[in-house]
Amino acid sequence: MSPVSTGVLFLSLILSVQQCIGDNTLNLNGRWDIINSNKGYRVSGIVPGSIYTALIANKTIDDPYYRDNDVQYKWIGRDDWTYTRLFEVSADVLSKQAVILVAEGVDTFSTVTINGIKIGVTDNMFLRYVFDVKAALKSGLNNITIAFKSAVNMAAELEKQSAYPIPPGCPNPAQHGECYRNFIRKEQCSFSWDWGPSFPGQGIWRNISIQYFNEAVVRGVSALPELVADNSWVIHIVLHMDISNLTVSGIVQTTLDKTGLYHEHLLSGTISSDIYYDFTVPKETSIDLWWPNGYGEQTLYNLTVKYVALDGKSVITEKSIKIGFRTIELVQESVSKNASQGLTFYFKINDVPVFLKGTNWIPADSFLERVTKTRLERLLRSAAEVHINSMRVWGGGVYESEEFYELCDELGIMLWHDLMFSDALYPTTPEFLSSVQLEIQHQVERLKSHPSILLWSGNNENEGMVIWYVTLLCFRKSERYKKDYVTLYVDTIKPIVESLDTSRPFVVSSPSNGAESEKEGWISKNAGSEYYGDDHYYNYNADLWNFNTFPIPRLASEFGSEAWCNYETIEKVFAEADLDYNSEMANHRQHHQNGNEEMLNQTAMHISLPTSSDQKQKFQDLIYVIQIHQAMAIRTEAEHYRRYTNQLGTDGRGLTMGTLYWQLNDIWQAPTWASIDYDMKWKMLHYYAKKFYDPNLISPYIDGNNLTVYLVLDEIPVYRDWTSDTQQLNQTSGCIFEKNVDDILSEAGCTDKKNCFLYFYLNSRDNPTSTSWLPLSYFTDVQGRILQSNIQISNVETLSLTEFTVTLTTNHIAPFVWINSRGISGRFSDNGFIMKDPQLQLIFTSWQPVDLKTFTNSLSVQSLMDIYH
Ligand SMILES: *[C@@H]1O[C@H](CO)[C@@H](O)[C@H](O)[C@H]1NC(C)=O
Ligand SMILES: *[C@@H]1O[C@H](CO)[C@@H](O)[C@H](O)[C@H]1NC(C)=O
Ligand SMILES: *[C@@H]1O[C@H](CO)[C@@H](O)[C@H](O)[C@H]1NC(C)=O
Ligand SMILES: *[C@@H]1O[C@H](CO)[C@@H](O)[C@H](O)[C@H]1NC(C)=O
Ligand SMILES: *[C@@H]1O[C@H](CO)[C@@H](O)[C@H](O)[C@H]1NC(C)=O
Ligand SMILES: *[C@@H]1O[C@H](CO)[C@@H](O)[C@H](O)[C@H]1NC(C)=O
Ligand SMILES: *[C@@H]1O[C@H](CO)[C@@H](O)[C@H](O)[C@H]1NC(C)=O
Ligand SMILES: *[C@@H]1O[C@H](CO)[C@@H](O)[C@H](O)[C@H]1NC(C)=O
Ligand SMILES: *[C@@H]1O[C@H](CO)[C@@H](O)[C@H](O)[C@H]1NC(C)=O
Repeated sequence: MSPVSTGVLFLSLILSVQQCIGDNTLNLNGRWDIINSNKGYRVSGIVPGSIYTALIANKTIDDPYYRDNDVQYKWIGRDDWTYTRLFEVSADVLSKQAVILVAEGVDTFSTVTINGIKIGVTDNMFLRYVFDVKAALKSGLNNITIAFKSAVNMAAELEKQSAYPIPPGCPNPAQHGECYRNFIRKEQCSFSWDWGPSFPGQGIWRNISIQYFNEAVVRGVSALPELVADNSWVIHIVLHMDISNLTVSGIVQTTLDKTGLYHEHLLSGTISSDIYYDFTVPKETSIDLWWPNGYGEQTLYNLTVKYVALDGKSVITEKSIKIGFRTIELVQESVSKNASQGLTFYFKINDVPVFLKGTNWIPADSFLERVTKTRLERLLRSAAEVHINSMRVWGGGVYESEEFYELCDELGIMLWHDLMFSDALYPTTPEFLSSVQLEIQHQVERLKSHPSILLWSGNNENEGMVIWYVTLLCFRKSERYKKDYVTLYVDTIKPIVESLDTSRPFVVSSPSNGAESEKEGWISKNAGSEYYGDDHYYNYNADLWNFNTFPIPRLASEFGSEAWCNYETIEKVFAEADLDYNSEMANHRQHHQNGNEEMLNQTAMHISLPTSSDQKQKFQDLIYVIQIHQAMAIRTEAEHYRRYTNQLGTDGRGLTMGTLYWQLNDIWQAPTWASIDYDMKWKMLHYYAKKFYDPNLISPYIDGNNLTVYLVLDEIPVYRDWTSDTQQLNQTSGCIFEKNVDDILSEAGCTDKKNCFLYFYLNSRDNPTSTSWLPLSYFTDVQGRILQSNIQISNVETLSLTEFTVTLTTNHIAPFVWINSRGISGRFSDNGFIMKDPQLQLIFTSWQPVDLKTFTNSLSVQSLMDIYH
């Protein structure tokens, strides 16, 4: 023990904490002045943030999501805005060896000036910028100015300078968007998408600060655990150093909590780059693995790195990150002895094949600064609650916030992570490529420690885009576009990702044919092949309740069907007269050309469209039936894919190992493919996801007049050997029942299909572990033949501050029962179900405390049979 009194020890601890946390940073977040090019608009705005939220807060503009404000406010993205603020600098700061300005995210084109001295420029929203500002600063008040140029104008300018056209040019007019997004490194969907508006922001969208130090400091840590032998791991650690020119001498102390493991090494000499070292976790250490949702615990370990002075006491910097131990393997091997039947495409996590029960993620708001941790938590928990274990971070959005990845680590949601390139061809000028190189280095280093990231994918849909544009536009110089594609993703991005991150696979594009694409020079002739890789599938004409409509790919990484958001969600951004399915605004919100008509057409294949003469009521009823259609369509498609988990057809199709439906969340209130709307209310589809992703799925389907019932289980451990003929296969999906439908009906005494439906339960009838049902005829026929259900809420009781039971009663069988808690944010234990018994109890879980009376008053319930009367 040291002879020093405890009081003094305590004091020195406080000092060292201050030194490492507060002392070397001058925070420049907070209020800045913002002014437009002709100085007509002057507001103050919060950093991190954007020009739009500053203008909203100032009441210069209304809610940008209201009606057609996306078009009314186009001038904002086309103007140039300048951010400026004053800040105090002490002589002590200036005395330091290194004084740097660190901007974690600048959107996008700007010139940075301090006290009239230009210190740098920015042109990539996804980069971290560091500028030496020592010479520009003075003791006392300083003035920093970040002058933005309109990204819309800059994109157009760069397009004009391009030696040749690079599609797509302008978006479909239905999107009311901006052109030439592919020429700039900015969130691609901020120029509009088929589910979202155009709000091409300007601003400082992540933290900004001045940092100063005399010795090297550890800015961040990344760590990749690698399994090197049976149960023994090596953690490859990188210390990201902010470096000044002084030589350093200190000790790096590394600890892994829960294991007692400790490692230290000396650091001396001149540091010129990041520091790499390995931390060994010996075989004897008992390590709990990280598992995806539904497969086990998401155990995380706290890895702490302290960089201390040679005396071992004063801490120079201290950083902690959470890591997880797991292995990932992408398995692509022959499915049969017939080579033209292709390769598997599935993932093994910790050696266990895992079916990706998933969805796709888009940015949760056009104004990224509005995406709070609460919002992320509600969306991601909603995903985990319906058994989702995987999610694609889509390439037209952004590399997300720390909080996002931390939540995915905790919830076991594996991320299929696109790099931010989407649905376009991209330039390959030296300037563009060098910006991309820095971006990929930065983002992969920033994110690679997260165990939830499953793989990196170079882009969204661009392998297919090359073929599409080359064919569609009949470019004479088509080779140039293929070459550009290879230059960007294969020659530039792939080596960077693979050198920085050995812990997960890299695929060049999603979708792609995987190893087969590579064999064909990275651009496959048949990009949508069912025999290789992953696949995207959409169909806006066919019957989506018929499984025969769908392909049988190895992995379905995108598929979807549109539906409107919930009525009360759209009601908030529409005027009274807009609440009409055929109104101009209803059409304006639909960014997918002809989407509103397609939804009606496809819904009408199964359900008679409502005919109320009251336009508002009719709009509400239409939203309801379209949501039924979306839920049934995606149920049909997802179950179809899951049935192929363990099935290989004689033609070589099957062994499907993933369903990532498009899409989980919304960016605004609109008709889109999402299962959760912008107000975070679950659409009927999200309730259906809970059933079609059940770990014990009963999946019935009718082909011709034959009923087939499958059981699909994702129990582990599951042993599979698909290639060997001799091994007994363990089934995870298989047919358990087959029968002629007419025989079933005559045995049951049902004389008219229109009056019957099939109901399935697993294990006991009264206490089933899983249930399912199938309609036997189109609801277009049923309508009018079934009596009004008179479904009612008979009782509501409080379970806790956020939980209630709701009892429903009905006097007839009621299909597609929809219960709503108007204005109360939360979710029911089930919804959109068929009510076959006179009484049923549901549980409602609110996201925040609510009293019984408010909750009870918010409730309403209906079934399909109620809307025609
Ligand atoms: C908007 O900004 C102007 C100029 O800074 C200021 O005078 C005005 O009070 C602000 N309005 C609101 C509502 O904040
Ligand atoms: C800071 O400098 C800019 C550019 O020189 C100037 O327009 C602005 O008024 C200055 N801001 C303050 C608060 O002095
Ligand atoms: C940004 O700065 C705030 C303090 O202003 C801090 O709490 C937060 O962790 C920082 N975020 C990141 C991603 O560094
Ligand atoms: C380090 O020293 C070199 C050469 O003297 C100089 O060019 C550079 O700006 C210095 N860097 C810092 C961070 O002080
Ligand atoms: C990780 O360890 C550090 C150092 O022991 C500690 O300060 C931090 O609170 C720990 N974090 C968590 C999440 O346990
Ligand atoms: C909807 O169906 C009608 C009738 O079959 C057809 O004429 C029309 O083209 C369809 N609309 C769309 C957008 O597919
Ligand atoms: C190999 O599989 C393909 C695709 O199913 C099929 O067309 C072909 O006839 C098969 N060849 C042999 C020799 O079985
Ligand atoms: C239905 O089952 C019968 C008897 O097994 C079979 O002959 C027939 O081909 C099946 N029809 C369809 C469409 O699968
Ligand atoms: C198949 O499953 C059974 C029961 O779970 C198990 O005993 C058997 O070892 C498994 N077969 C293989 C080849 O793993």
